Amino acid sequence: MFNHATIERNATILLVLGFITVAIGGIVEIAPLFYLQNTIEKVEGMRPYTPLELAGRNVYVREGCYTCHSQMIRPFRDETERYGHYSLAAESMYDHPFQWGSKRTGPDLARVGNRYSDDWHREHLADPRSVVPESVMPGYPFLMQAEIDTKYIADHLRANQLIGVPYTDEMVQSARADMIAQASDTGEGAEDLMKRYPKSQARDFDGQPGKLTEMDALVAYLQMLGTLVDFSTFKAETESR
Ligand code: HEC
Repeated sequence: MFNHATIERNATILLVLGFITVAIGGIVEIAPLFYLQNTIEKVEGMRPYTPLELAGRNVYVREGCYTCHSQMIRPFRDETERYGHYSLAAESMYDHPFQWGSKRTGPDLARVGNRYSDDWHREHLADPRSVVPESVMPGYPFLMQAEIDTKYIADHLRANQLIGVPYTDEMVQSARADMIAQASDTGEGAEDLMKRYPKSQARDFDGQPGKLTEMDALVAYLQMLGTLVDFSTFKAETESR
């Protein structure tokens, strides 16, 4: 009916046929996604952030740490040898927004947890050149003084709950207590925290007993990064096939 010349000379026919062709390509790519239960492989160990870690993550986003640091280790040998196991999709599934980043002025931070002491982080965040003389990272000494208002943390958990992070109502109700317990130097409430958030670390992160600061929150967040999944037992689905 149509030969090529007819199609090329009639803009309407060209548009309609072009649209149909592109639509077929789109359906082939997109439709299967509706039939998959999940595009993220479930991984043992992943849990939502504790209230204190979440607050620390907010400081991280607010201060723009992601403009110099990525949080995604790519599956290349030079990266896995320097930073550790490549990042899994599940490891950022509770991140809103994700912190993968696209710029590395400083090193990747996806597995920085437990690599340095709290003291080191405090020194480094307050004055990077006091521990790494050639560093170009800015200092954030004010974090030691910036006290955190625990009033809004439950709302913050609830907001995350609304967008699919599996916080239970119990977690939301005890958010304030959990936040105080995690940064306390007495260990009070740490047991309850641990039950709700396995593998959480509770101690006085900023070295200022009785004071809950943004330094507590940020160091708690950094110290948990990349520590939830046990890679001595982890096997990727594709590897086990
Ligand atoms: C202007 C870029 C820049 C910004 C912004 C920045 N950093 Fe850095 N960061 C660096 C550089 C460069 C290094 C490597 C030298 C050093 O250790 O200080 C580094 C190192 C680090 C390290 C040590 C990592 C390792 O494996 O040795 C941590 C932790 C860190 N930064 C956290 C942060 C946090 C948290 C923030 C936001 C509050 C931040 N950085 C903001 C540039 C930056």
